[in-house]
Amino acid sequence: MTGFEIEKLLSVGADAVESVLSEYAAGDDEKFGVIYEAVRYSLLGGGKRLRPFIVLQFALLAAAESGADPERAYMAALPYASALEMIHTYSLIHDDLPCMDNDDLRRGKPTSHIKFGEANALLAGDALLTRSFGVAVSNAYASPETNCLAAALLSECAGMGGMIGGQVLDLIGESEHFDMETLERLQSLKTGELIRCAALLGCYAGGASEKMCEAAEKYAMGIGRAFQVIDDILDATGDEKLLGKPIGSDRESGKTTFLTFMTIDEARAYAAKLTEDAKTAVESFCGSEILCALADYLLTRKK
Ligand code: IPE
Ligand code: IPE
Ligand code: MG
Ligand code: MG
Ligand code: MG
Repeated sequence: MTGFEIEKLLSVGADAVESVLSEYAAGDDEKFGVIYEAVRYSLLGGGKRLRPFIVLQFALLAAAESGADPERAYMAALPYASALEMIHTYSLIHDDLPCMDNDDLRRGKPTSHIKFGEANALLAGDALLTRSFGVAVSNAYASPETNCLAAALLSECAGMGGMIGGQVLDLIGESEHFDMETLERLQSLKTGELIRCAALLGCYAGGASEKMCEAAEKYAMGIGRAFQVIDDILDATGDEKLLGKPIGSDRESGKTTFLTFMTIDEARAYAAKLTEDAKTAVESFCGSEILCALADYLLTRKK
């Protein structure tokens, strides 16, 4: 599968998720309509929708394994994919705030706090986080038991022992010297956990076996770490217009990143090795070519 083909598939997945997201984000109010506007501003029309794509692809992989109806697995995956994208989007809104990374560009547009003010950006993030759990547990295409498991997973991966923990370590890393082991822990939490969440949510939606869930976690750990290595490289060397976020932000705030320990070439080689490990974890499953092609594609991404 070529990079072009995987890009096409990503864009089809993104369209499907965006149309569901726009339904969840619909609404208005004469007095406080600004929050609906702020939520839609960040949630719609931008973002690669990588995590939703992983949810959808693992649901299809699981359905192929169990012989379940792939269309039903896809429908069951869409609300989970949307819930996770809401959490991811909230994490970005808060990540950009002046008290965090203090960035003014996101997904090619002024960040939420630049456009709507800090308080509304904070609240838009809160609104997305809160809404995401409602979306996951109201999934009509999965059983109440599966929805409960999905909500518990979202909470685990996004919370203190997951993404938030990683964000706290990330801020500590602005003033404290970390060793490579601590940096890897930071990364696994701040970026890896939401990607692990994506892979497992897809497994839940498609009724995957224990064996596939384990493989999904290994795959997610590999591409999650590679994803952050590339994110750090792009922060240092990317093209702001393509990337849609500021270049040099990490250096300006004195972050500890993979480039604290490696040259760009070493970092690229490390990301390639992690990608190979990720592919190895899933390649025995019938239909895993798309996930393998995705892993390769993410190594060469420019945004
Ligand atoms: C950015 O994630 C934050 C990181 C975890 C590095 P993405 O690069 O997936 O951002 P969007 O969703 O495409 O904007
Ligand atoms: C943020 O990592 C990861 C989140 C949990 C939001 P970064 O701070 O490196 O993400 P970017 O580079 O701003 O997208
Ligand atoms: Mg950050
Ligand atoms: Mg940031
Ligand atoms: Mg970054």
